[in-house]
Amino acid sequence: MIKNLPFVFAIVSVFAHAQPIVIAHRGASGYLPEHTLEAKAMAHAQGADFIEQDLVLTKDDVPVVMHDIYLDTISDVATKFPDRKRANGRYYALDFTLAEIKQLNACERFSEKTGNQVYPKRFPKGVSAFQIPTFEEELQLIQGLNRSTGRVAGIYPEIKQPKWHRSEGHDISAIVLPILKRYGYATKNDLCFVQCFEFEEVKRLRTELCWQGQLIYLMGAFKKGEKVTTEKPSFEQIAQVADGIGPAISQEIAAQSKQAHAAGLKVHPYTLRIDDLPKWANSTEEVLHLLFDEGKVDGLFSDFPDVAVKWLLKK
Ligand code: G3P
Ligand code: CA
Repeated sequence: MIKNLPFVFAIVSVFAHAQPIVIAHRGASGYLPEHTLEAKAMAHAQGADFIEQDLVLTKDDVPVVMHDIYLDTISDVATKFPDRKRANGRYYALDFTLAEIKQLNACERFSEKTGNQVYPKRFPKGVSAFQIPTFEEELQLIQGLNRSTGRVAGIYPEIKQPKWHRSEGHDISAIVLPILKRYGYATKNDLCFVQCFEFEEVKRLRTELCWQGQLIYLMGAFKKGEKVTTEKPSFEQIAQVADGIGPAISQEIAAQSKQAHAAGLKVHPYTLRIDDLPKWANSTEEVLHLLFDEGKVDGLFSDFPDVAVKWLLKK
């Protein structure tokens, strides 16, 4: 871990100012293959306030930074290890050691069915050389850039599918939290938001596992006229354990954001993709206006952090 970083001033500036934060979704993934260190370095240079890490475990319990529990739509695993798929045809990170995962070439995300890249205009699939990084490699990169550039970016790790990991005999949250602590992320003043889609795990992180830093509960899109149901926790229930919510971007965001704020929750919607706007939006600016001006959201995940950074700078 790199010690003596100028964190104090950064903490004051990021958590104390009213300006919403820009979260680089899987890095600057609109420009480079998602979750590669290159995409994270670009996000840092583009001025992202926070940089996201989706985390899954390897067979030898090392957290690696990748979006799915599967390797086959972001790497050449099927070519390098053709016999290692499960009965469903998928290649699971959890079935591979870190040494094996390091033999893979990471690439732009592609469709399992067609093999075509999901976002056709982005970085070309299968060229150059990229790796799947470990969580620690990424923390070292971000903290290294924080020191060398003097501009401090925070981290935004997501615990991916903790229930599934536990069903396979691996407790991902219990492995990730000590790493965060070792790298200086432990309290609400540290530049770190832990996020998770599973409310049971959000509660467990706060209670049983004693995470004392910022915590975000991820949820799907709000639908028009949607009422709180018994299956979904209310904003008040969420606020008892979490600091905020991460809803999918929708047209209902302004009204829901107001209610979440009333319950004391921060609102960090996901994901602005300028090459894949929501169906109801005619332009990137329309989405940014709805989120920031009408919804008063506290942050935004974007594959194109530079676009959100520039828009906020004009305000
Ligand atoms: O974590 C915020 C956002 O990334 C949630 O969606 O599926 O891209 O992890 P996903
Ligand atoms: Ca995520």
